[in-house]
Amino acid sequence: MKVYGFVGSPRKQGNSDILVDRFLEGAAASQAETKKIFLDDLVINQCRGCYTSCMLQPGYRCAVFRDDMDMLMDGIAGGDLFIFASPLYCSCYSAIMARFFERLLPFWQVEAGDGEPGTPGAFHFLNNPARGKKAVIALVQDLKEPAVGKLALDIFEHNVAKTYMMDIVGRLQVTDVRSRGDILKKTAVLKDVFEMGKKLAAGK
Ligand SMILES: Cc1cc2nc3c(=O)[nH]c(=O)nc-3n(C[C@H](O)[C@H](O)[C@H](O)COP(=O)(O)O)c2cc1C
Repeated sequence: MKVYGFVGSPRKQGNSDILVDRFLEGAAASQAETKKIFLDDLVINQCRGCYTSCMLQPGYRCAVFRDDMDMLMDGIAGGDLFIFASPLYCSCYSAIMARFFERLLPFWQVEAGDGEPGTPGAFHFLNNPARGKKAVIALVQDLKEPAVGKLALDIFEHNVAKTYMMDIVGRLQVTDVRSRGDILKKTAVLKDVFEMGKKLAAGK
């Protein structure tokens, strides 16, 4: 079992980072092979929006950039379980996470269909290496009220589950954490995150 944790915060040892660490520690306790991806450390160019080039050719490679997305997409294609964790920034997940999601578009392999442009019949779906893989989404936020992050969490889930067709097996929202490491005070939450990683990596 290969388990990858994606951190969408720019803060090392911030709340998203610690949450991902705890999840991966749980997964490692079930003998999973784990890897943390601190997205802000990587070279991930901004999608240029020429999407037909990447979607119409096999091999899930961006037609424009050779950067760290090649390695990340190979990792996802070969992985089994994923956690995507982001801080709530301006009522959404972070721009770091958004840029990463936008660059996953080459996972979609399609061929042109007969339908009108802008309708599902405009293309036929052929393949997506991320399809059906298990994913947990996690959002951390300053404000205590969970409703503040609900829209972001829904969009987060939509992108992972609908756009990239992964199987959402966990949805975490940690409120009332602001400064780097505030989440460490939430020992019960971190214990649950550890147990979630352990259980999911055990295939339960
Ligand atoms: C640019 C920016 C925008 C933010 N927007 C929100 C917000 O809309 N709602 C909220 O509850 N917290 C907001 N926060 C607070 C972060 O979500 C919070 O500090 C979080 O714990 C940071 O996670 P990290 O430690 O993983 O970086 C914002 C923080 C920054 C820096």
